[in-house]
Amino acid sequence: MNKLTPQDILADKGKRKITMLTCYDYSFAQILDEANIDIILVGDSLANVILGLDETSKVSFTEMLNHTKAVAKAVKHSLIIADMPYLSYQINPKKSINYAKKFIAGGAEAVKIEWFSGNASTTKGKECIYVIKNLIKNKIPVMGHIGLTPQTASSLGGYKVQGKDKDSALMLIKEAKILQDLGVFSIVLECIPYQISRLITKELKIPTIGIGAGKFCDGQVLVLYDFLGLYKKIKPRFVRSYKDLSSEIKVAIGKFIKEVTNGDFPNREESFSMKEDEWRALAKNLRLDDTL
Ligand code: KIV
Repeated sequence: MNKLTPQDILADKGKRKITMLTCYDYSFAQILDEANIDIILVGDSLANVILGLDETSKVSFTEMLNHTKAVAKAVKHSLIIADMPYLSYQINPKKSINYAKKFIAGGAEAVKIEWFSGNASTTKGKECIYVIKNLIKNKIPVMGHIGLTPQTASSLGGYKVQGKDKDSALMLIKEAKILQDLGVFSIVLECIPYQISRLITKELKIPTIGIGAGKFCDGQVLVLYDFLGLYKKIKPRFVRSYKDLSSEIKVAIGKFIKEVTNGDFPNREESFSMKEDEWRALAKNLRLDDTL
């Protein structure tokens, strides 16, 4: 199966639904890739589910890069997108290009940028436009992200659904069109009423990928650890856990403890052994008890 490209994802708009999951390590990436997921996002949700931090804005570029490299080693088919962490572009927009180039050198094929909170005419909005324009000018494919943007959630009044009133709905529609005009190949819509994300999806020529944005988006994304029931600290309403791996793992660990305790693990097949005559000769040599 061929490697998917941003152009393939763009061409899928209106033809089929696009699937995306986050992933942060080699072993899971291999599973996701073999299961034919379209896009693997090395999301900055790594901060929460892997590093145990309370905010995504706290994850460092180096941490994100190391995990992107691990994922890239396993993937043959899915498109790999690295999430630009807050510290790599929102503090000093001019430096963003250097960081994005390192992600691409590390195996990502595109980067995702969260819209800076603030409308397009504010300093923050202009900085966001500058970052995206500059990356695309340097031939780095960009996925946008609007709605609830966790890196700047505090300036949005917390982790809240966005676009519920006239002004904020119009702002989202405007941001989506700006991103499309800048040349992003796709946009994540996070925590937006389904009516607004349906409208945005209809208005755009590029695919929308929803998370908490209803079923009318061109594709859907979930955080892998939510999807597998591994991260239990919070469970937003939009999360569907397809597995309760956390409970299954606890059952398996309970079994391991029991079998180690009662001597059932490891058995003969799971142990290395010497031929009996070799053992007896060695025991004799070392003056050891040769009882087996
Ligand atoms: O980091 C992440 O997991 C994300 C998804 C919520 C889209 O950005």
